[in-house]
Amino acid sequence: MNEQSRNGVIIFDTTLRDGEQAPGCSMTLREKLRIASALRDLRVDIIEAGFTAASPGDFESVEAIAGQIEGPVICGLARCHPGDIEQTWQAVKGAARSRIHVFVATSPIHREYKLNIDRDTLLKRAVESVHMARELCTDVEFSAEDASRTEPEFLLEVITAVLEAGATTINLPDTVGYSVPAEYAELIRHIRDHVPGIDKAILSVHCHDDLGMAVANSLAAVSAGARQIECTINGIGERAGNCALEEVVMALKTRTGFFGVDTAIDTRKLHSTSRLVSSVTGMQVPRNKAIVGDNAFAHEAGIHQHGMLKHASTYEIMRPEDVGISRSNLVLGKHSGRHAFRERVGELGFELDEIELNRAFAQFKRLADRKKEMFDADIESIIVNADSTSDGPWRIQELHSTAGTGAICGAAICLQHEDGKTINESAVGDGPVEACFLALEAATGISMDLKHFKVHSVTIGEDSQGDVVVTVEYNGRSYRGHGVSLDIVEASALAYLEVINRVCRHAAVEVNRAAENIATN
Ligand code: KIV
Ligand code: ZN
Repeated sequence: MNEQSRNGVIIFDTTLRDGEQAPGCSMTLREKLRIASALRDLRVDIIEAGFTAASPGDFESVEAIAGQIEGPVICGLARCHPGDIEQTWQAVKGAARSRIHVFVATSPIHREYKLNIDRDTLLKRAVESVHMARELCTDVEFSAEDASRTEPEFLLEVITAVLEAGATTINLPDTVGYSVPAEYAELIRHIRDHVPGIDKAILSVHCHDDLGMAVANSLAAVSAGARQIECTINGIGERAGNCALEEVVMALKTRTGFFGVDTAIDTRKLHSTSRLVSSVTGMQVPRNKAIVGDNAFAHEAGIHQHGMLKHASTYEIMRPEDVGISRSNLVLGKHSGRHAFRERVGELGFELDEIELNRAFAQFKRLADRKKEMFDADIESIIVNADSTSDGPWRIQELHSTAGTGAICGAAICLQHEDGKTINESAVGDGPVEACFLALEAATGISMDLKHFKVHSVTIGEDSQGDVVVTVEYNGRSYRGHGVSLDIVEASALAYLEVINRVCRHAAVEVNRAAENIATN
């Protein structure tokens, strides 16, 4: 843990673990690595990279993030089971700074209905687990799941014992989002005042948003002495989600006079990170969402606009540029050069290397040729979607679709496989999108069950790009795909093909694993 964070509030990001647990938010290894790089650039202190026991894929992604992402502490979650703890250590040990995060539910409801154990057994298990984790790793976090509904005297007993066993961070989750700020702050104070030696550890909070109070509860806990906040980008997570990183960080920054603490976050990267997570998970950010919603800095009412023209402080408590929203009036279009494009990309909070910049610029030029005005959201969309469909065996070479009132809707498609072969297929359907999906299935031989289809426009204007997210089921697994184009039928085809490519990659991984198992047995 760096000293700066110790004096301020440690930002523990769990987008890749609790965030990924949200329905429909599962991510591929490549997507997780991309988000982990963005979190590093955002300067979060800790990345919780996953729950290694959940699946071999989760283990691999935690291990890859630990091996490739330098800067933040890389943390893996483990139940209080020796097998989980050992496995988590194997996954995180490659990081320059690693953490094992062990948890067990302490509340009577969880003890009785979920774990079916008594207090003594639970206490013993918690202590043994922290001991074991400390033998492997110097940085160990202990979470008392459902702490806010645990009997205060038992919580005190557990925390005192795990602290003695060597836990370096103590986390008190409001797992079901039941607490309210004054009560949650009281819980933190109670632990601070009654656990001997608690000042040797960092007190942490992890709040869910079931009653819409995750951010308020986390801030109240900070006022009561908590120094680590567990949060996710856009507040994604189990059920109603977690404390939103961008909101809690901007509250601490904007009201630093009140809270007296800050974070190490580079807030100018909040907007770009939010857009990346939204694009990867398919979870759209509501327009009125604090900090990162499209309307967060928009002033509609005449009286507000009048005030803003006189002085921005009349209606703005934060500067949009501080969260990575550009206020630049420079209009980019097809005549804009690489230099201007690079500047705007930087202003929008993205860090691209030369190769990524060249690729994004080429795409920008192609799009600018077809579109009258290029908005910041178009540029963001180019960057965050840069490698979505490029990752798979199939690519669309040509697509034609027909539609019309009373007409038969059809689609003809030419796909190229990475081994060089091309396939032409056509199909008819109730609409051009369905026809397209059927043609893609016929060409690839993969037939899927479409569960959700969402389309929204990236910007305003009749020449806006369409952004399509599809969720499908295949062989009992849920997959998500995403496509953007000026033509919404093409955007739909790209989203559907992304899923087909994922299914193919997944099948290839399974075949390799089976072969490795045969070889090692
Ligand atoms: O909500 C919760 O209690 C958790 C723990 C595993 C930290 O996510
Ligand atoms: Zn949680």
